Amino acid sequence: MTEQQDTDGVRSDRQKILFVNCCITVHEESRTEKLARAFLDAYLKKHPQAETEERDLTRLGLRPLDPDTVRRRNALSDMYAGRSAETEADFPQGAEEFLEAEKFAQADLIVIAAPYWEMSFPALLRIYIEHVSALNVTFGYGEDGQQRGLCRADHLVYLTTAGGPVAGNDYGGDYLRGMCGVWGIGEFSAVAAECLDIGGADVQARLSEAVRRAQELAERI
Ligand SMILES: Cc1cc2nc3c(=O)[nH]c(=O)nc-3n(C[C@H](O)[C@H](O)[C@H](O)COP(=O)(O)O)c2cc1C
Repeated sequence: MTEQQDTDGVRSDRQKILFVNCCITVHEESRTEKLARAFLDAYLKKHPQAETEERDLTRLGLRPLDPDTVRRRNALSDMYAGRSAETEADFPQGAEEFLEAEKFAQADLIVIAAPYWEMSFPALLRIYIEHVSALNVTFGYGEDGQQRGLCRADHLVYLTTAGGPVAGNDYGGDYLRGMCGVWGIGEFSAVAAECLDIGGADVQARLSEAVRRAQELAERI
């Protein structure tokens, strides 16, 4: 894909935004989802040509990989080997096992929202990552044996909110940043609203400040 930039140096050719919504909450309104929607609204305002596809992980019914699923996926991965734009027509389309991986691979921008749980994110997001990390769909190996990412997106944005401080213990964000290297996604950005559950915290002010940073990020990328 040829990168296009507008006069601000901002990418303006992204069409497909994939919103990975892992906002499991006990609050009337998820603060994490609020932050994510603020980012998406600001991004779409600046890039009205873009369209968002949302994957609500709480509704997908994804299950952790088990030996049978891994064997089926391995067989499919073998069939997908050597797939490229030129040979696209020769390969199976829409294999159920690779549905999420295909959507992930084809998105121009990926936005993931998940609350900060156990210094990371909910297990449901880890299950989703098992599903999207599919050999020969989102990553592969070149003839030289080197791993290479196959995702179209150039940027992954991660939005989270936490009850306490995150700094220094962002195991979820750090892991996603590492996975971007596997998937071939060059840029990773994160915005967190922290310390929302600490007694006496001005939750609104903290959230608004994070929303402002998320909106700034949406303007910038
Ligand atoms: C199961 C669970 C685990 C959590 N683990 C942490 C944690 O390790 N550290 C922390 O600072 N907050 C933790 N929290 C608090 C949440 O990060 C915080 O309330 C967050 O803002 C929730 O987002 P939401 O409003 O979108 O639900 C946890 C909350 C839950 C429900």
